[in-house]
Order: sequence, then C-alpha cells, then structure tokens
Amino acid sequence: MTTPSRVLITRRIPEPGLVRLRAAGVAIDYVDQDDPPSRAELLARAAGAAGVIAMMSERIDAEFLDAAGPSLRVVANFAVGFDNIDVPACSARGVRATNTPGVLTDATADIAWTLVLAAARHAIVGDRMVRSGQWKGWAPTQLLGLQLAGATLGVVGAGRIGTAVARRGVGFGMRVLYYARRDVPEIEQAAGARRVDLDALLSESDVVSLHLPLTPQTRHLIDAPQLARMKPTAILINTARGPVVNEAAVVEALRKRQIAAAGFDVYENEPKLTPGLAELDNAVLLPHLGSGTVATREKMSLMTAENILAVLAGREPPNPLN
Ligand code: GLV
Repeated sequence: MTTPSRVLITRRIPEPGLVRLRAAGVAIDYVDQDDPPSRAELLARAAGAAGVIAMMSERIDAEFLDAAGPSLRVVANFAVGFDNIDVPACSARGVRATNTPGVLTDATADIAWTLVLAAARHAIVGDRMVRSGQWKGWAPTQLLGLQLAGATLGVVGAGRIGTAVARRGVGFGMRVLYYARRDVPEIEQAAGARRVDLDALLSESDVVSLHLPLTPQTRHLIDAPQLARMKPTAILINTARGPVVNEAAVVEALRKRQIAAAGFDVYENEPKLTPGLAELDNAVLLPHLGSGTVATREKMSLMTAENILAVLAGREPPNPLN
C-alpha cells in the first residue's frame, strides 16, 4: 500500500475543499485556526508535504520551498493575487503554483463599492455619531457627501474585478474612465468606459478605485505626486494590494485634505497600519474582506482542492500560474 500524499492547509478554510480532499484519500495536515501560524511552524509543517494550500499572507519563497523539500509538487494559493508566491522559484523546483481567479470577482467589486458608498456618504462617522449619543437630530448641512450620480469613476486596472466595479458604477449613474496598458473591450462594452492615461484619470475622477496586481511596476503606483493630481473632493479606494499605494503619503494627503477620503480593504503591512491612519475620520478601513462572502470562500476552498488534486494525479491544474 502506498502512503497517501500529505497536503498542508495553512489556515482554517470553509468545508468544501476539505471534503473534496478527504474524499480523494488525501492525508491532510490542517492548521485549523484563524490566526496565522508562525513562520517556524509553517516551515516545519511544510517538510515532506506533496501539496500546500497557502494563504496570501504567507511567503512562498525559496526558503519555504527548500523547507518543504523535493516531495512538494503543488502550491495552491487561497487567493487570486499571488504576489506572495515566488513563481520562478516554484518553476525552478518543478512545483506547480495555482490561484483562484473568477470566483471572487463580484464579492471584491461589492467590497470596493461598500467602501465607495461609506466614504462618499460618511457612513462610518455617522454610525459613530448615532451610537455615541452625539447626534442631535437631522440638520440640512450635516455630514454632506459626494453625489455619485453624474460623477466620474476612475478604474485603475481593467481586469475582471476592475470591470465588475465599472459595471456597478454605471448602475450608480457614473461616467467611467479606466487606465490599463492596452484597450480592454470588456470594460468599454460593460460600462462605456474610456481609456485614459493615469494622470488624466487621477485629475478627472471623483472616485479612483485600484484593481491592479502587486508587481515591481505597480508598487507605490499611487504616491505623493499622484495624490497631488487628484481633486480635493476625490475619494481613493484600494481593494487590490496595500503596497500599490504609499500609505504614509495617503495619511498625509488625508490630513491636509488634499483628497477628501480614502477607503482601504488592504494595507502595506497587514495587519499593521501606518501611524496616523486609524485616527483619520476621512478614512474607511476594512479588514481585507474583499472575497469574504460565504459563497465565494466556499468556491475558493473547492478550487484550491481541485488544483491540488489535479497536480497530484499528474493532470494539468485548472488555474495554473506556471
Ligand atoms: C485577495 O486579496 C485575493 O487576492 O484573493
């Protein structure tokens, strides 16, 4: 009898993936907790695994791959973004890497819009006012926000999520601009969006929403000079990856009211915040909830399991990165 392949799952995940792996007879080493394991624990548990279901907060680099050793055949990232994975290092060791595209598009677009609406209409400040007993009743000039109908939405990055955000913008009566390296017919058809360069997008948009992967080229794409181009009434939304913006520069811009507000679901050093950010009333801050619906996380769970099983069975995985 052969020993079943061992798959390390580095965090508690929804059931469907576990059920699928168990049904296939895979031995699971399950880090059954919401808190991240230490790096040392992760490296120790990776040793001898054939597959790993990894979270975006874990660095899958040469050190990790070497700790896992030659038994490792596949790393399935429980995320669409894969800036945490050194894909060339995986390829060099013959390890397949996979991600979870598509299934989280709507959930992430919805969280971007949660931030847009909350920031535009001072929802969090208003909620605090009501709860704290500081609300003295309706007033004609109280917490006046940005009218979205007729305003301009600037979508930076026109992939699946950017396009879904743009489509929702049309529902709110917004004109849509987008920035991408090339024309993207999908976003133009879905939202009548017009492609412009980044400077034009920043200076013309009332809401700027980021939907780019984190790469060396997109790191600090939004920094002090870009923030200076934005309207003083504009809102910056980041549901992509924290380091796409220089968080310290955003804190400064929000303090000086150089821009009106920011809505973040992701941070440069998650879960740590740049000093000063948490004190700002004009920042809406969510704990990286983009893909966090029951349906989406269940699909992500199943998808990671299918990718693992395909590689272990010698088949092409459904969502390969290499
Ligand atoms: C979430 O941030 C993801 O990349 O899936």
